Amino acid sequence: MTVARVGEIAPGQRKIVRIDGRSIGVFNVGGVYRAYLNLCPHALAPVCLGRVGGTTLPSAPGTFEWGRDGEILSCPWHGWEFDLLDGHCLTDKKRLHAFELALVGDEIVLTV
Ligand code: FES
Repeated sequence: MTVARVGEIAPGQRKIVRIDGRSIGVFNVGGVYRAYLNLCPHALAPVCLGRVGGTTLPSAPGTFEWGRDGEILSCPWHGWEFDLLDGHCLTDKKRLHAFELALVGDEIVLTV
């Protein structure tokens, strides 16, 4: 099913679509498209509505290093952070439910 056209979702942005009763977030992560079920694996918040930004990186004691801007989704309820490139949680073993996407011409097609 076509969920968007290339260029419709700017880098760092998302589009929420509804397919077969399920809410799904389609993200442009620096030119790479990813799709996730809009339910947080922690407590079922609409995670795809969260802030897209970066996170703190491992750094020396007493230092604060920020990075990965545009690749991290922060859940709006409790702030769990998820890697938008593969859906894993940065602080837990749970992960976002991912869907397969394919580019067909200028269409972004999702397989449910
Ligand atoms: S519901 Fe998402 S972090 Fe709690």
